[in-house]
Amino acid sequence: MDIAYKQLVEDEERRREDNRKVQLYSRTVIALITVVTVLLVSVAFYNLLTPRVSSSQPGPSSSFSLPQAESCSDPCTIVLVESIPEGLEFNSSTTHPSIFQAWLNLMAEARSSLDIASFYWTLTNKDTETHEPTAYQGETVLKELAELSGKLSVRIAVNKPQMSSQKNDLKLLNDSGADIRVVNMKELTSGVLHTKFWVVDKKHIYIGSANMDWRSLTQVKELGAVIYNCSCLAADLGKIFEAYWFLGESQSIPSPWPATFSTLYNKDTPLQLPLNNTRSNVYLSSSPPSFCAAGRTPDLQSVLSVMDDAESFIYIAVMNYLPTMEFSHPKRYWADIDTQLRRVAYEKRIKVRLLISCWASTQPVMFPFLKSLASVYDPESKLDIQVRLFVVPANPRQKKIPYARVNHNKYMVTDKVAYIGTSNWSGDYFVNTAGSALVVNQTDSQSLEPTVQSQLKAVFDRDWSSAYSTPLTQHSDLKDFC
Ligand SMILES: *[C@@H]1O[C@H](CO)[C@@H](O)[C@H](O)[C@H]1NC(C)=O
Ligand SMILES: *[C@@H]1O[C@H](CO)[C@@H](O)[C@H](O)[C@H]1NC(C)=O
Ligand SMILES: *[C@@H]1O[C@H](CO)[C@@H](O)[C@H](O)[C@H]1NC(C)=O
Ligand SMILES: *[C@@H]1O[C@H](CO)[C@@H](O)[C@H](O)[C@H]1NC(C)=O
Ligand SMILES: *[C@@H]1O[C@H](CO)[C@@H](O)[C@H](O)[C@H]1NC(C)=O
Ligand SMILES: *[C@@H]1O[C@H](CO)[C@@H](O)[C@H](O)[C@H]1NC(C)=O
Repeated sequence: MDIAYKQLVEDEERRREDNRKVQLYSRTVIALITVVTVLLVSVAFYNLLTPRVSSSQPGPSSSFSLPQAESCSDPCTIVLVESIPEGLEFNSSTTHPSIFQAWLNLMAEARSSLDIASFYWTLTNKDTETHEPTAYQGETVLKELAELSGKLSVRIAVNKPQMSSQKNDLKLLNDSGADIRVVNMKELTSGVLHTKFWVVDKKHIYIGSANMDWRSLTQVKELGAVIYNCSCLAADLGKIFEAYWFLGESQSIPSPWPATFSTLYNKDTPLQLPLNNTRSNVYLSSSPPSFCAAGRTPDLQSVLSVMDDAESFIYIAVMNYLPTMEFSHPKRYWADIDTQLRRVAYEKRIKVRLLISCWASTQPVMFPFLKSLASVYDPESKLDIQVRLFVVPANPRQKKIPYARVNHNKYMVTDKVAYIGTSNWSGDYFVNTAGSALVVNQTDSQSLEPTVQSQLKAVFDRDWSSAYSTPLTQHSDLKDFC
């Protein structure tokens, strides 16, 4: 709401500025206005003649005081994609195409451009000096990307590499013709560029938890979404990419952001589009708030509003969950999300499930906070928050792979919507680290097709009830699990 209001105020200011110009350049402006009017009339006429997804029913965007969001008639197709670590087996029919396959498809589709927002690059075995055969997928992706870099516009926005081993892939791509900009987040916000998404030909997108790391394709459990043939949404994700691209050059954050970065699509006025022929409301959120141009929903507001909107359940699968600013000194408590979960569990009797990851690098401080959440459970009082820990087992060979064998998912599914993000859930990721998320709302749909929400819920149910997850109780000892 605040942002919508701010945008209205800014629009008003811009209008006043325009009035001043009218006095100076009245003829030019009047000529321009005439052209714009003719265009608008043609567009309106075209709209009347062209069937639109939204024409059957007025969407939420028709509410009077907010800027009008448009609808989109692209034939968008959405596919959930996953990396399932080598050796993991589920007793379930819920499977999705691999992220590896999705990236190969996207590269095969690319005709003119490929923009990638990324945290770090280690697509080959070199970084760990291992000889893992399962690095093959990552190495294939790197090889294909290098080939594409010579043929079309490949742009990469990346967090400032911390180790020299993270520079090899970037050097190869740069030498092959890719344009690379390093975003110095440490200087800009004291955070990192943690976002992971692709925009292909300004038409197809990928967003999800996987880093540009070979382990993300075969040794780490990941979840993302690919949307094909969807230029409306790709244009909006493109604006988030352009913001990183801009920061890679300017090394300072504009305030306010120029109007070219602003969006009409947010939690209050989502983009209306067909996903697999199903009427859908979709928007992209972004963090940190200082990277949000006018109209953009900050990622935290997105998370909180999705929780607020739930009527019966909220299922969350994230690697890390902490009601703190994990990386700040001195220590700071940060309970925005934690409070919201307890509030909806109490006030609205929402069933809350958290599936959190547990591995060798899990910080012990996560457990007292998770136990505290899990203690909000009492059937008689209709309180129902439950926590389970997901462990990806490793054989002796897999144990030798550093930073692998973990559930790295970052999503939430409620009885209403699907939220697919790129952030760990602690304060830093919403306050000073760059991340983004896709929110898909198909509650208005009358379609019999599966929804993204139902597919994502099936993934959660599969993992929650699998042999790899264990309930966290007040007596659970970290050492027994991870
Ligand atoms: C898989 O699930 C089915 C049905 O729930 C069950 O009958 C079967 O024993 C399970 N198999 C394994 C290997 O867990
Ligand atoms: C890419 O290569 C050019 C020289 O061709 C060099 O000036 C530039 O610093 C390189 N960029 C990166 C990110 O390595
Ligand atoms: C995208 O649209 C093109 C042209 O309409 C079609 O050939 C292609 O199969 C579509 N791609 C997907 C993944 O749906
Ligand atoms: C989903 O859409 C419905 C109906 O259009 C709306 O009332 C609801 O607030 C939306 N939910 C979210 C989380 O955006
Ligand atoms: C998520 O949190 C872990 C632990 O703090 C950190 O190592 C990782 O870089 C974070 N982000 C990723 C890669 O998702
Ligand atoms: C959308 O269609 C694609 C391709 O047919 C399919 O793989 C995917 O599961 C569908 N997604 C949903 C949410 O129905």
